[in-house]
Amino acid sequence: MDDIPRRKAQQIALAASGRMRFSRKTTLLDEVELIHDALPELALNEIDVSVEILGRRLSAPILVGAMTGGTPEARRINLDLAAAAQAERVGFCLGSQRAMARDPGLTETYEVREAAPDVLLAGNLGLVQAARLGPEGVDRLRAAVGADAIFLHLNPAMELAQGDGDRDFRGGLDALRALARRLGDRLWVKETGCGLSRAAARRLRGAGVRTVDTGGAGGTSWVAVELARPDANGAAGPFREWGIPTAVSVVCCAGEGLTTFAGGGLRDGLDLARAIALGATGGSFAAQLLHAQRAAGSGGVRAVLREIADSLRMALALTGSHDLAGLRAAPRVLGPNLTRWLQSLPAGG
Ligand SMILES: Cc1cc2nc3c(=O)[nH]c(=O)nc-3n(C[C@H](O)[C@H](O)[C@H](O)COP(=O)(O)O)c2cc1C
Repeated sequence: MDDIPRRKAQQIALAASGRMRFSRKTTLLDEVELIHDALPELALNEIDVSVEILGRRLSAPILVGAMTGGTPEARRINLDLAAAAQAERVGFCLGSQRAMARDPGLTETYEVREAAPDVLLAGNLGLVQAARLGPEGVDRLRAAVGADAIFLHLNPAMELAQGDGDRDFRGGLDALRALARRLGDRLWVKETGCGLSRAAARRLRGAGVRTVDTGGAGGTSWVAVELARPDANGAAGPFREWGIPTAVSVVCCAGEGLTTFAGGGLRDGLDLARAIALGATGGSFAAQLLHAQRAAGSGGVRAVLREIADSLRMALALTGSHDLAGLRAAPRVLGPNLTRWLQSLPAGG
């Protein structure tokens, strides 16, 4: 399967092109209107948005989203992103380690600890591959790159959109149960752009998962990415806009008691603030940071990360929130589409 590096290179080029976003569906985060406080009794520089996760202190609740590994280009990207995460003291997620699981010679394309010794680091693997590899194999993959946790990605829509992708998703929950027993809090789960429903969140929690990234709809459409590749499954055409908007998924996951990173289409620190107001612990940013890396290297990524954290602090100031707990309780008005989603979702769905 030497075509994994080629597929990854194509995916990076497509995702970085800016043309692979959802075109009609949005995250619905723009339907979370936080109420302005004209009399905030606080100073901007006393606002603390730091969080501690798995013993690592982050200056702001931000993850550089999972993107790449497995090729020389991926190695350069990972090193730039990880160095930026280290400098700005935010978390960093590696892309799928599937290529490394097949060929340990590719491990160095995922090794970022030298550039980012203290960063909160997450590895990454698809659930289908994780089920085949087993709990010990998955934990070895995590430990081989010095990661604190490993994200297992759920991506059935993306697989079905690939001409030769996975078609059999049975046994996922059983595999997760076994993985959770071995990995505990180090097992994280994410979607990749179609979001997690309340029912999915509940099943994940039942299997022992405690931390998720919503990977919701409204940002990068992975069905669109796959449809643009030569070996796409044409039947996936109508599913370009498929998925649960990120704002909805945050409410579903946080409501089930999961530590929730809002991911999928977050544009800036105000979107992050809106997600936190809905119950998220933090947020992840993927394609946007890849653009920044390609345009201006690690420095470009640092500038974007700084701006996101600064906008988050501004959102706290302008809602009169002293800390992230205050933001979670801040008054807000929800727009009609988000309200409709939340009211229409069955309690179990
Ligand atoms: C170039 C690229 C590669 C990605 N590769 C992976 C991956 O290997 N594993 C994974 O879990 N998610 C992967 N993703 C999905 C992101 O982590 C994220 O869930 C998704 O892109 C939505 O976030 P965004 O709208 O901020 O891009 C990738 C995204 C991009 C842009």
